[in-house]
Parts: sequence; C-alpha cells; structure tokens
Amino acid sequence: MAEKQPPQSEHFTLIDERTGQRYRQSLLNGTMGPPAIDIRNFYHTAGVLTYDPGFTSTASCKSAITFIDGEKGVLLYRGYPIQELARQSDYMEVCYLLLYGELPSPAEKDEFVRDIKHHTLLHDQLMHFFRGFTRSAHPMAIMVGVVGALSAFYHEDTDIYDPEQRMLAAYRIIAKMPTIGAYAYRYTIGRPFVYPRNDFSYAENLLYMTFSVPSEDYEPDPVLVKALDRILILHADHEQNASTSTVRLAGSSGANPFACIAAGIASLWGPAHGGANEAVLKMLMEIGDKRRIPQYIARAKDKDDPFRLMGFGHRVYKSYDPRAEIMRQTCYEVLEALGLRDDPLLELAMELERIALQDEYFVERKLYPNVDFYTGIVLRAMGFPTRMFTVLFAIGRTVGWVAHWKEMISDPETKIGRPRQLYVGAEKREYVPLEKRPSPGKRTWSRFWGGGGEK
Ligand code: SDX
Repeated sequence: MAEKQPPQSEHFTLIDERTGQRYRQSLLNGTMGPPAIDIRNFYHTAGVLTYDPGFTSTASCKSAITFIDGEKGVLLYRGYPIQELARQSDYMEVCYLLLYGELPSPAEKDEFVRDIKHHTLLHDQLMHFFRGFTRSAHPMAIMVGVVGALSAFYHEDTDIYDPEQRMLAAYRIIAKMPTIGAYAYRYTIGRPFVYPRNDFSYAENLLYMTFSVPSEDYEPDPVLVKALDRILILHADHEQNASTSTVRLAGSSGANPFACIAAGIASLWGPAHGGANEAVLKMLMEIGDKRRIPQYIARAKDKDDPFRLMGFGHRVYKSYDPRAEIMRQTCYEVLEALGLRDDPLLELAMELERIALQDEYFVERKLYPNVDFYTGIVLRAMGFPTRMFTVLFAIGRTVGWVAHWKEMISDPETKIGRPRQLYVGAEKREYVPLEKRPSPGKRTWSRFWGGGGEK
C-alpha cells in the first residue's frame, strides 16, 4: 500500500475573550473527512479544558481502518465501499482486509482461512465456564464472561508489544467467537456442544454449531450461509463507535487483548448500541399491528416518554445507514428463499419506516433506519432467537475491535486514555465527627438492604 502522507498542518486560533489571549492550534488534515484541531497541549497552555460529553466533536485517535461520511451515507473498510464488499467479498476476506489493510491474494486468503480454522476450538478447561451460568443466562452475559476468561488461558504468552503475538491473539479471538457464541446459546437450551468442523466455512460453522442436532447430519442452507456471511461483513467495523472506543481505552493501559474484547462485548450489549437489534424485534412484536404505529411514533417524540424508536437514528449517519439499505435487501432475499415473503414483521417494519420518514420530527433530526432496524427480522427468519442477535453482532464486530486494538498499540502517539472532567461537586469542607452530625431524613440506600432486615 502506498505510504500515506502524514496529515498536513494548518492552524486554528482560539481566543479567550476573558483576556484577549489567542491560542494558535495546529489543524490536522486526514486523507478524507473533517480536519481536527490538535488540542493535546491546550489545557497545558490555556489552563482550560474542552467539554464534549459523548465525544460528539472529538477525534480520539488517528485511524486508517474505516471511514464514514455520515452526511452522504458512505462507509469504507480500508477504502473499499461496504456495498461492494457485501456484494463481492466474504467475511474471511474482509477480516484479512481489516487486519492487514489490503485485500489478500488467493494464496494469502487460503492461508488466512486455514490459520483461522485451526484456532476455532476452546481449551477443554474453558468449557467448564459455561456450566457456571444459570440456563436462563443471557448469551451475551455468558459471552462476556467466557471471552474475559480467555485472558487467563493466554495471559502468559501474549506479549502485546510483539507484533507477531498481537496478530496471533487477533486470529485466536476471531476464530473462537463463533464457538463461544454458539455454545452460549446451546448451553441455555440444554443442547450438547458440537465441535467446529474444518470442512465448513466460518458462517457454515456458526450455523452448524448453533443449530445442528448431534444425532442428525447437518447440511447448511446456502441461502442462510450467504446471508449470515453478509451480516457479519456489515457488522465487522464502524470507526470509533462506543464498543470499539471501549476496547481502545481498555487496551491503552496495556491490558490483555481478550480482556479488552470482553469490555467491548459488554459495551456493545447496551440497547443504545449493539443491543438495539434485539430491542427492534421486541418493539415490533410489541407494536404488533400497523394500526398501533401512530401511538408508538407519538411516544418516540414525547420527551416525557423514555421510549425511542429502536433501530432509528445514529450519532454519525444523518442519512440512510448504507448497511440498513443492504440489510433490507437481504431481508427480501432470505424471506423469499424461506417462503416467508409475507412476514408480517417485515411489513410492519416497512410501514413504520415509511411513516417515520415522512414525520417532521424524524426528518428534522435526520433520524433514519440504522443497521439494527432490519437485521433482527432476517436473523429471526433464519431461526435465531432474539437473545442471540447481539451475540451475532459481537461475532461480526470482533475483527473490527481487534484491528483497532492492534492499530492503537502500534500507534506511536498512543497514550493511556485518561479524560478530564468539569467538576460540579462539593467544594472543600471540614470533616464532621459522627456524633456531631445532624440526623436528616431517612437515607435512600437502606431501601436496597437485602440482608433480611425489615424493608
Ligand atoms: C449502533 O456508533 C456506531 O457506529 C454504532 C453502530 C456500530 O456499527 O457500531 O452503528 C451500531 O449502535 C447503531 C445504533 C443502534 N441504536 C438504536 O437504534 C437505538 C435508538 N437510537 C437512539 O438511541 C439514538 O439515535 C442513538 C443512540 C443511536 C444516537 O444517539 P445520539 O447521537 O446521542 O443522538 P441524540 O440522543 O442526541 O438524539 C438527537 C435527537 C434527540 O432529540 P432532541 O433532544 O434533539 O429533541 O434525536 C432524538 C433525540 O431524542 N432521537 C430519537 C431517536 N434517536 C435520536 N428520538 C426517537 N427515537 C430515536 N431512535
């Protein structure tokens, strides 16, 4: 790959109107997208912090992995449009691309696929971790726990400052996530684990380990395999989203990569992030009928109602999420192939989208369907229970997390992530001995005492 030129610098001047002091900051230009004001030394020189809850205007790092143009609905993995990768590539090739920065040659791809296949098994001791969970445990809770436990199995031989060992850790986690995800599901339904098969592709193995019955042969359905592989591609990476930023922040302290990925899984689980695909299905099931759509649209607009239209809106996309477009097409293909073309949930989703996209509230706020809006309908049609939807998102996103972790570790500008705050707490005050303190009303925390005392 041609060596990218380092960002050129121009300047941006900030003026402190209290003193008239001018602060001339460098302006960093990337290869695409908005420039960034370099404020690394701003607090040191100006004595003031910048305030940006949720990091809506903050670039946390430089990255060459994924580019998003939210206004135009553009998503590129290492420069390649998501539409072309979804149509012409496969998930293993996209993993290679995200990790190495270039599309593999045929020989490189064969070697990569073979190497990944030879890391899909779990250490036999690790299998005991599943049995520590209740059968009713959410598969995401199991996945967080088991992936975190992997750090105990590879802690000794993971020198994160050795590029070879970083890549080995990447291969291991990418390879083991389908096994862990499938086992997390099978454990909750009391079905025995089945080992991955090296004659199956990545997506075939994921379906096989999830749905096969040990007493029968299993032949993966090519339509489902292709749809699942495409879903994994669409979820592979997405710049500095909450879970990827979590992985980077955890990794910036030098933590074990498996522990960092476990942190990313935990962050992804939230309904505002990767948990939205499960929440969309629950929302559609709750709406149930097209005639009830207006009342849910009204609730989504009501500031006194915490309800939000799940699968709608995005921090970066202020236009249609290109992944949602591809997911909707995949919906048609899968439902058609499965003879479920008239799936009432799809019709309900499309009517909800139609009404919302005509509503001033959504139009004004540029709220469009995101990747999660249609994914759940496809996954449900494929036979996955809703509680597995975010597990599948995590499996797809693992390559993105680990690619960013690798990029962060090898970036000479990386420092341990340690944001500051705007302090709004109590000013300095003297300690008051217990016997001299007034006894105000009942403190709230006794309500949470579960030790058998009186409620
Ligand atoms: C993912 O970051 C990524 O890249 C994430 C992701 C990835 O691949 O990693 O793309 C995956 O997480 C997709 C998003 C999945 N989440 C959902 O579908 C949950 C529903 N969406 C919202 O919670 C929300 O849109 C977010 C969390 C996605 C984005 O929130 P922001 O950027 O903080 O936007 P905001 O809350 O400031 O909203 C701006 C306005 C507000 O109204 P006003 O204060 O201006 O009056 O839009 C409203 C919000 O109330 N709004 C919604 C809404 N989303 C935003 N109102 C109703 N329904 C919604 N879904």
